Amino acid sequence: MNVTHLECALCGLKHEAHRLLNLCRECGKPLLVRYDLDRAKQSLTKESLIGRRPDLWRYREVLPVEDDANIVTLGEGWTPLLHADRLGKAVGVAELYIKDEGQNPTQSFKARGMATAVSMAKELGAEKLAVPSAGNAAGALAADAARAGLECFIFMPRDTPLANVVECEQTGAHVTLMDGLITDCGAEVARRKEAEGWFDVSTLKEPYRVEGKKTLGYELAEQLNWELPDVIIYPTGGGTGLIGMWKAFDEMQQMGWIGSKRPRMVTVQATGCAPIVRAFQEGKRFADEFPNAATTASGLRVPKAIGDFLILDALKESGGTAVAVTDDELIEATKEIGASEGIFCAPEGAACLPALRKLLSTADVKTTERVVLFNTGSGVKYMESFAGGSS
Ligand SMILES: Cc1ncc(COP(=O)(O)O)c(C=O)c1O
Ligand SMILES: [Zn+2]
Repeated sequence: MNVTHLECALCGLKHEAHRLLNLCRECGKPLLVRYDLDRAKQSLTKESLIGRRPDLWRYREVLPVEDDANIVTLGEGWTPLLHADRLGKAVGVAELYIKDEGQNPTQSFKARGMATAVSMAKELGAEKLAVPSAGNAAGALAADAARAGLECFIFMPRDTPLANVVECEQTGAHVTLMDGLITDCGAEVARRKEAEGWFDVSTLKEPYRVEGKKTLGYELAEQLNWELPDVIIYPTGGGTGLIGMWKAFDEMQQMGWIGSKRPRMVTVQATGCAPIVRAFQEGKRFADEFPNAATTASGLRVPKAIGDFLILDALKESGGTAVAVTDDELIEATKEIGASEGIFCAPEGAACLPALRKLLSTADVKTTERVVLFNTGSGVKYMESFAGGSS
C-alpha cells in the first residue's frame, strides 16, 4: 500500500513502518503514519469515491493496512452529517450540522480508531491487546478484537458507565475495574504489558487509532462537497478525533482536494476536567495534569493527554479556541438536542451545544457561519448520567 514510514509528531524522527511500535524511541511522543500521497491520489480521487463501500474503508489508499484480508470491520464510519434545522433556529445559526457518531458500531466514534488499530495489530502479529479506557474505546476494542479472534484486556475506572462494562464482558474481553482515573488504568497497562505480552493500544500510544479517526475529516469534506465548515466543535479527551481530522485536512490539501483554508477547531471540555482549556488559556503547548478530575461525561475525564501538544497546536494554527462547560449545562443540552433533533447524544457530544452558545455570545462564532458539532457517541450508554431526569 502507500505507507512510507512512521514519524514522531514532536521530534520528527522517522521510524520503520510495518513493525509493532508504540511511541517514539527517542522522545517518547506519539508516532504518526506517513503516506506517499502522490501515489495514493492516482487511484483515490474525489470521483473514485462515488459508489465505494459506505464505511471508513472507502478511503483505502490513505489507510495503513497492507493486506485486505487483515481488515477487521463491523461497518465503522460513513455516519450521517445531519442538518440541525430546529436546533439551528433556536441558537440562531442556519448552517448548523451534527455529525452523528452515535450511529457507529458500538455506538461511538471510538469504533473508527479501533477498526484500524485492531486491523493493524492483526496484520503485524499481535495476539493480546490491552487498553485503558473511559468506556467507549473499550467497547469498540472488545468488539473488534472478538471479530479478529484476538484476546483483549481492558482496564476502566470502577465508575465507568455500566453499559460499557457489560458490553465488554458480553463481547469476550477480560475486564478489570480500577479505583482511580483512566491515567491510573494506563499506568497499570504500562506496568504489566511486558510480562503479559500485551500490545498497548492506548490513545496515541500506538500509531493507528488516529488513522481511523482521521476518516472523520475525509467524511466531513466529502459530505459537504469538499468545502470544509467554518467551525468544528469537538468534545476533547485524549484528542485523537481532533488530531486525526487535522491530519486528514493536511493530507487532502497535499492531494489537491482542498485549499489551505481550515475550519476553526474548538475543543470542548467539562469544567471538572479541563486541562486543554487551561493550557490554551495560559498559552502553553503542553498541558499540566488536571487535579481531581470529575465529570459525568466520562469520555472527557482525561486529566492528562499524551497528544496535548498536537491538540493545542491545531487549536492555535486554526484560529480556534477551547471552552469548558459545566455538567449541568451538558446534561441539559442532551435533552435539548434530543427534543429538537431526535438525536440522543452522549453527554460529551451534547457539551458542544453550550460551548457554541458561549462562542456566539462572545462573537467568536458568527450566526452566518457553517458550524459542525460532533456528537461522538450515543446517550444510550449513559443511563447513570440521566437517572432522575425523567420529570
Ligand atoms: C463519547 C465520547 N466523546 C468524546 C471522547 C473524547 O475523545 P478523544 O479521546 O478522542 O478526545 C470520548 C472518549 O472516551 C468519548 O467516549
Ligand atoms: Zn520523537
